[in-house]
Amino acid sequence: MKMDCRILWSFLLLMALAVPLSASAMEMDDCLDCHGEVDEVGEDLFIDGDKFLPTEHADMGCVTCHESVTDEHPDDGEAVTSADCLDCHEELGGQYMATAHAENAVCSDCHNPHQVHGIESVSGPDMNQQCSQCHDSIEVMDSHAEWLPQASLHISKLPCITCHTSAEGYVIVLNITQKQKKSEGLKGYSFSNYADLKEYAGEKEIQSLIDIDGDNHISLAELRTFNRNPAYKSLHLSGTMVPGEISHDLTTLDNRYDCTFCHASGPGSMQTSFLALPTEGGIYQRMTVEDGAMLDTLYGTPNFYMTGSTRSATMNIIGLIIICGGFIMPIGHGTLRFLTRKNRQH
Ligand code: HEC
Ligand code: HEC
Ligand code: HEC
Ligand code: HEC
Ligand code: HEC
Ligand code: HEC
Ligand code: HEC
Repeated sequence: MKMDCRILWSFLLLMALAVPLSASAMEMDDCLDCHGEVDEVGEDLFIDGDKFLPTEHADMGCVTCHESVTDEHPDDGEAVTSADCLDCHEELGGQYMATAHAENAVCSDCHNPHQVHGIESVSGPDMNQQCSQCHDSIEVMDSHAEWLPQASLHISKLPCITCHTSAEGYVIVLNITQKQKKSEGLKGYSFSNYADLKEYAGEKEIQSLIDIDGDNHISLAELRTFNRNPAYKSLHLSGTMVPGEISHDLTTLDNRYDCTFCHASGPGSMQTSFLALPTEGGIYQRMTVEDGAMLDTLYGTPNFYMTGSTRSATMNIIGLIIICGGFIMPIGHGTLRFLTRKNRQH
């Protein structure tokens, strides 16, 4: 994982400050003895250790962010301070704070500081969950349907941030979905979680369902084998377009009315593609997919097709010839009849 230099420095600085200043010798485990148990502290102060410990924030320990905590806590009755995200995330945080949306939501409305993840570990629906706390899904669907055909398909497939932030580049991410008897989401399909896929994989790793040779890379041949396997009949690969790297300039971008922004994005985004598999901890792990496999809609991704995305110059010319061909008969016939009208009068 690459680390912004400034983040590293702020981190080291805070560490240096935290050690002598902190009034507590308590370690993370001590904190979790209380805060990791709902029975001890109640729902509101509960920190889920299983979700916190695998995150980048856990490497810093609790006290780095909660400096003022003392050895007498909680009996001292003192309020505990919490660090400001902007202390360490100047760049992304600053970008967000400059948007009009910063008036509407603060960092912790979208991010639980004890469960932070990079964009590569979060699914589209989970990202959209953050937005739907405030933006009613049905209202969003209705307002977008005024200009966007198949709005419910778009809204359920795409992360909101694909249209509402700008990014350097976009990638295609495939997820395994399965038919849910009860749910109607995604036309009756919803994302398979770890336990769902474990049922298919049995003793083996869930990765083996599709990455047959275990090289952490999905080839077109592996996609084809997966799609054709009758045992996985109720599993589908669902694709979506996601920013390659996160940006926080949350706004409405003019070019997102433009259907060709995605539908003619062509091999650029379609080449860089990933398969995201769910982990036991409820996040996702990505594997690269062979370049171009996404364009093979017949065997590679039969359930994912962004109309127009496979546009190529040659195909356009062939298409034009076919369309013109269709007109040649009636037009040619009419012209001939017109030119020969005198002959026919005889
Ligand atoms: C003995 C159990 C116990 C331990 C150990 C403990 N806490 Fe607490 N903590 C509590 C209780 C109870 C409260 C609520 C206190 C109150 O409301 O006055 C609390 C409150 C807090 C709050 C404030 C929540 C808020 O929004 O007001 C923070 C932050 C916090 N603890 C962090 C920590 C950290 C960091 C550690 C480890 C260095 C830690 N606690 C260790 C029991 C504990
Ligand atoms: C990266 C910084 C960071 C780390 C590391 C961190 N916290 Fe927090 N914590 C925060 C922030 C920021 C808030 C305030 C959240 C808000 O305003 O909603 C917070 C809030 C809390 C609260 C109040 C309840 C809540 O969820 O809002 C408790 C209790 C708490 N932290 C305990 C802990 C414990 C225990 C650890 C270590 C296991 C820890 N924190 C590690 C940043 C951190
Ligand atoms: C004491 C410094 C510090 C504070 C305060 C802090 N962070 Fe972080 N955060 C880090 C470091 C270090 C990383 C790991 C490097 C990176 O991804 O930039 C990180 C990573 C992250 C990640 C990405 C995790 C990943 O796996 O890629 C998110 C999201 C995040 N922080 C959000 C927040 C939010 C929101 C707050 C405020 C509630 C906050 N951070 C406060 C230091 C901090
Ligand atoms: C309106 C929602 C929203 C707000 C507010 C928000 N973020 Fe984010 N942020 C996201 C989404 C969505 C992602 C993608 C990953 C995820 O869902 O955690 C993300 C990702 C990140 C990341 C990880 C970047 C990476 O490498 O993938 C960091 C760090 C981060 N945000 C920091 C912040 C900070 C600091 C603030 C406040 C100044 C903030 N965010 C406010 C929605 C938000
Ligand atoms: C804590 C509440 C909250 C969260 C979370 C939140 N928003 Fe908002 N957002 C608002 C409010 C309030 C407004 C202003 C009123 C409105 O337009 O609905 C707004 C406005 C907007 C606008 C219109 C602003 C403009 O410039 O046209 C967009 C687009 C938007 N939000 C997208 C998002 C996305 C995408 C997410 C998730 C990544 C998100 N919001 C998360 C509260 C929130
Ligand atoms: C295909 C691109 C696209 C997707 C996906 C998308 N939006 Fe939008 N959104 C737009 C555009 C373009 C506008 C401007 C519409 C207008 O001016 O009428 C907009 C407008 C908005 C507004 C402003 C007021 C309104 O309701 O029309 C909000 C809030 C908003 N979007 C939230 C969201 C949320 C939340 C999601 C995810 C659930 C989302 N959008 C997904 C393109 C998109
Ligand atoms: C942000 C990217 C994005 C934008 C902008 C966008 N689309 Fe889409 N569109 C998608 C994705 C992703 C799908 C789902 C493809 C799939 O799952 O097979 C889709 C599906 C569709 C479908 C259904 C295709 C099918 O096979 O059922 C139609 C029709 C469509 N889009 C038309 C439009 C039109 C018209 C616009 C402009 C008003 C537009 N789209 C804008 C990304 C986008």
